[in-house]
Amino acid sequence: MIRTDSRATAAIRPVHPADRPALGGFFEDLSLESRYLRFFAPVRPTASLLRVLSGGPANVDAVVAVADGVIVGHAMATDRVEARTFEDPCGASVTEIGVVVADAWQRRGVGTALMRTLITRAQARGVTSLAMDVLPSNRRMLAMITGHWPQAVITHSPDSLEIRIPLPRLQLPQPQMRTAPQLVRALVTLGAAALIGRARRDLRTQRERAHDHKPAAGWSKPPRIRTLGRLSTPSS
Ligand SMILES: CC(C)(COP(=O)(O)OP(=O)(O)OC[C@H]1O[C@@H](n2cnc3c(N)ncnc32)[C@H](O)[C@@H]1OP(=O)(O)O)[C@@H](O)C(=O)NCCC(=O)NCCS
Repeated sequence: MIRTDSRATAAIRPVHPADRPALGGFFEDLSLESRYLRFFAPVRPTASLLRVLSGGPANVDAVVAVADGVIVGHAMATDRVEARTFEDPCGASVTEIGVVVADAWQRRGVGTALMRTLITRAQARGVTSLAMDVLPSNRRMLAMITGHWPQAVITHSPDSLEIRIPLPRLQLPQPQMRTAPQLVRALVTLGAAALIGRARRDLRTQRERAHDHKPAAGWSKPPRIRTLGRLSTPSS
């Protein structure tokens, strides 16, 4: 839930297929300028475009901002893997972002909140950078990017600006590292456990044999297994 100003709040959530009619209405109601800035053309959403905008394809993640049950913002991320390079032998995992906010809701923090949500979700999928195409005249979008993501790299192509935002990897809990002496102790303990197991088996066999056959004279208790003590203290 984001509080956009003193009166209004909007919630951000993933798009559901059931949102398609409302999503169609949201894009229809955008000003010509907002639609042009979003799609680089005064696009009207067709059924197939709405399927994509609602996260239909497996590589598309789409979210909406909703206020009082009405969609007031939409953003989507389309994942792709780039060609392998020397620096990135598996190919960089990139997501292409598109975002638009209802005209009456612009400049109230919705665009930034939508972007942040998409970024967190992309990081959870292992994406390592965001890509965006922005028209050079789109001051608002450029101000938003440079204001909130100063690490963005902007390059010029013939008719747009290509923006890249590197994403830090999410910090997942690391498996506990062991020092070399700890590792040796662990291995030795493992070896000892294996030996104990074998020795116990041997002992059982001896006892079973002893049970089956009469014990030889002088055989009253099992022999001590000295190897175990030596193995569990490597320094001796
Ligand atoms: C670009 C867009 C998504 C930004 O969304 P928004 O909800 O208006 O943006 P925010 O309120 O989160 O503002 C984020 C920053 O953008 C900048 N900004 C927003 N509106 C601005 C304006 N009219 N003039 C100058 N800067 C502006 C500010 O730096 C602002 O940061 P701050 O207010 O926290 O200091 C929205 O304006 C929009 O839908 N534009 C049309 C579609 C589009 O251009 N999409 C991008 C191409 S994919």
